[in-house]
Amino acid sequence: MTDSWQECMNHCVDVTKQAGKIVREALEKDIAVMEKSSPTDLVTETDQRVEKLIISAIREKYPTHCFIGEESVAAGAPSVLSDGPTWIIDPIDGTTNFVHRFPFVSVSIGFTVNKEVEFGIVYSCMEDKMYTARRGKGAFCNGLPIKVSGQEDITKSLVLTEMGLKKDPEHFKTVMDNIQKILNVPVHGVRCPGSAAVNMCLVACGAADAYYHQGIYCWDMAGGAALVTEAGGVIVDITGGPFDLMSRRLIVASSPRVAQRIAQELTVFPCGRDDAP
Ligand code: IPD
Repeated sequence: MTDSWQECMNHCVDVTKQAGKIVREALEKDIAVMEKSSPTDLVTETDQRVEKLIISAIREKYPTHCFIGEESVAAGAPSVLSDGPTWIIDPIDGTTNFVHRFPFVSVSIGFTVNKEVEFGIVYSCMEDKMYTARRGKGAFCNGLPIKVSGQEDITKSLVLTEMGLKKDPEHFKTVMDNIQKILNVPVHGVRCPGSAAVNMCLVACGAADAYYHQGIYCWDMAGGAALVTEAGGVIVDITGGPFDLMSRRLIVASSPRVAQRIAQELTVFPCGRDDAP
């Protein structure tokens, strides 16, 4: 029997390659930066152009499928996950990195059916690394299998997170306190390279042992989620409970033990949901 999701994945890899080429070319030119919700929430003409290209190339082949795209949602499209085949797209994950040419910028696409991630593609544009993972079939970087470090000991772990300014001073303080608590465990170190999808791929290939974040979006997480689980890692809610793609928070780790140890340290703050009315 033909595996139709595999066909979708093959198409996704082709479309992601085209999108990545546009991002790489844009890095060679002047980048005009616009602000979205705040002075630290950036968007460029390339984010919008790449999302349009990705959606039109996929819709042409799969006209009945659903889409959740970062820039479409910013322009007012709904962000609701249905049971139907759904493409969750971040055309440039790491827009701030892109604007500064800080070398971790990705195109990230996750594909869900019945709200489960079937496959994920993350192309780290400046590194020229194509990460691919299909449910039950493993995780790969440029065609070679990858796996998590398998680290079980938090005190030997390198932990990734993000520390963007939060509008609410209480939340900002919590983000900073959480970093301090993780450093005090102690761990080997904390790093904040971004983008969210690249962070997840770094855990998937064993370069880091964990990543946690409160306040990201489903398009930041969907592609990387497939990579981490297929590379043998775990993905849980920030509380240590089951992961929810629309919850805007997560811990990914090399082992359940490291994930739960991080959850034990973190103070949770409300960050809303992607599908909030
Ligand atoms: C952002 C990046 C960044 C993370 C933010 C994300 P965007 O995505 O992944 O590293 O800190 O939370 O929203 O806006 O560049 O697509």
